[in-house]
Amino acid sequence: MRIILFGAPGAGKGTQAKRLETALGIPQLSTGDMLRAHVRNGTDLGREVDAIMRAGHLVSDDIVIRMIAERIAAPDCTGGFLLDGFPRTVPQGEALDRMLAERGLVIDAVVGLDVPDEVVRDRIVQRRSCPKCGAVYHLSKLPPKVADTCDRCGTKGLEQRSDDTLEKVNARLEKFHKETAPLVQLYGPRGLVKTVDGMSPPDEVFESALRMLGVAKLAKRPALARPSARTASPRTPTARKPAPRTAVRAPAGKPARTVKARAAAAKKATKTKKATKAKKATKTKKATKTKKATKTKKATKAKKAAASRKPRSAAGKQKPARRR
Ligand code: AP5
Repeated sequence: MRIILFGAPGAGKGTQAKRLETALGIPQLSTGDMLRAHVRNGTDLGREVDAIMRAGHLVSDDIVIRMIAERIAAPDCTGGFLLDGFPRTVPQGEALDRMLAERGLVIDAVVGLDVPDEVVRDRIVQRRSCPKCGAVYHLSKLPPKVADTCDRCGTKGLEQRSDDTLEKVNARLEKFHKETAPLVQLYGPRGLVKTVDGMSPPDEVFESALRMLGVAKLAKRPALARPSARTASPRTPTARKPAPRTAVRAPAGKPARTVKARAAAAKKATKTKKATKAKKATKTKKATKTKKATKTKKATKAKKAAASRKPRSAAGKQKPARRR
């Protein structure tokens, strides 16, 4: 599956991309993360884009198109990918179409995250992220369990992005409405845009996104390891097929069973157990009764026999021996 995550800065693209890449087994390709890695590593490209990003402006189309063209040619993208932050302009969208067409590929879905601007401002100003693994937090809504410490890797000292100030977010929002929003006209007529309410809690947004993508909900969702896009990890090229909606993971080698079937089987087992117990109890009771009856019968018979052997005298005394 080749998916575009679309939305304003702070709409939750990165948050959902991490969940979706784990669930679908396809890599997240975040142009923002790639550019920030260049800045961090002090590459020529990093030096070139640093000031642009700090100002909340868009990096030139040429740079990001080249970056994405290289990235989607990597082996871990053969089974699909999730684009986060790209395309951001109509020329970028058209360039993406061309590079996919060269490979005989197309975009399968555009998942739009709908969040009002005032919420975006709050989210961005309160966002903190782990400098090591890239996990993202919101100081009041999605805080780490231990203050200033990453839940996932334990790194202390969560960071605020240099472009995450109110002034910069306003500039970024302006760019979004002017240059990125028109992309809907590119994908809308193809019937690819599926909009999700980005205001719900992240897990609910995730479930909605899965539904929109036509991927059944995972009954028992795997632990959201949320690997970082910065530490590129090898991924399975083919998308993992999630279990059907009501399926419960079956032990290895055993067929999957539905929740309903499991409940019915458990009920039947309890019923059988109860019936067996009751049968056993009746059997034991009967056996005890029979044993008792046999014993009583035997005792009565013995008593009768003994009585018949006794002398007939009323006193029951023995006759004196005859004198000679
Ligand atoms: P980029 O890194 O792509 O930034 P962005 O698009 O502005 O998006 P963000 O990363 O800020 O937000 P997000 O939607 O990922 O939200 P997140 O999940 O983190 O780009 C940065 C810069 O790089 C650009 O300004 C530009 O200069 C350059 N650039 C990148 N790509 C480019 C391109 N293609 N062309 C040109 N230039 C490019 O969530 C935000 C916060 O909200 C977090 O705190 C999170 O915890 C919280 N949150 C998320 N979901 C929820 C929820 N459902 N409920 C409550 N809180 C939530």
